Amino acid sequence: MLRRIAAVGLLAVGAVMFLRRLRQWAGEPPVQRTSHKEAIEPPELVARYSRFMGLPPMRLIRAYLARYVAAGAVQWRILDVGCGPGWFPLELAEVAPNAHVTGVDLSHPMTVTAVAHAANHRSVERVHFAQARGEVLPFADGTFDLVVSTLALHHLQDPVAALEELRRVVRPSGRIVVFDTRRNLHPWLWTALKVSQAFVDGLALCENGEPAASIGASYTASEAQRLALQAGWERVQARAGIGWIVLERRAAPTASLPLPPVPRPRR
Ligand SMILES: C[S@@+](CC[C@H](N)C(=O)[O-])C[C@H]1O[C@@H](n2cnc3c(N)ncnc32)[C@H](O)[C@@H]1O
Repeated sequence: MLRRIAAVGLLAVGAVMFLRRLRQWAGEPPVQRTSHKEAIEPPELVARYSRFMGLPPMRLIRAYLARYVAAGAVQWRILDVGCGPGWFPLELAEVAPNAHVTGVDLSHPMTVTAVAHAANHRSVERVHFAQARGEVLPFADGTFDLVVSTLALHHLQDPVAALEELRRVVRPSGRIVVFDTRRNLHPWLWTALKVSQAFVDGLALCENGEPAASIGASYTASEAQRLALQAGWERVQARAGIGWIVLERRAAPTASLPLPPVPRPRR
């Protein structure tokens, strides 16, 4: 019995020492923001990114996010800015069966990949893709009921101009949701990402310095909130998860109807 306790104790001490060394090796998440490449253009990288985003954990996160932003959407027009290989617009079309979803991306190869994905999808009729720059969207004011953007904010060269555009193309009472990675993420998550970068080559898109490069270019929740306020957003809310931020312009509350008088109980 004593031997077992000693063995478990030794193992626990070894594990703690190993994890502490790992944390030391990974260092702290970046403090200063570094800029990132804008569009993802090289076809090999586009294909790798698309495969990575097709993995089950990514699909799970996307399904959750799509439900968060579009559950209950009726005949909405939805725009996804920086849509990449098109997985999120297709998921949105699944969640909101009567909605029309448009995805735009600056990268031509990404847009071509998205169109190819949509061609095999049952929602093909309701999903459209176009090549466009987030900072100059080719849509009239108030065209959309909901505007979303996932994992693209840290790529934008002029994030304030893009956030202004998101605001311009959504209807005045409409909702905007921007989801992205967070620079000041939890130190253990940073360690896990550094480990994945070191050991899981193809998955981590290593040659591009990912995922650390994206984290270094990401914003904190308060920085993102400042950008949104500079872009003239109202009803702004910025929240931080362990490794992500959600920047939101909430939909305007609909005018509430006066409640009927409550009947008095009879004595
Ligand atoms: C990390 S990917 C995210 C793709 C997708 N939204 C997702 O969640 O998988 C970032 C995308 O933003 C695009 N992008 C970068 N700068 C852009 C800009 N100024 N306007 C539109 N798209 C841009 C890139 O080409 C790339 O496809």
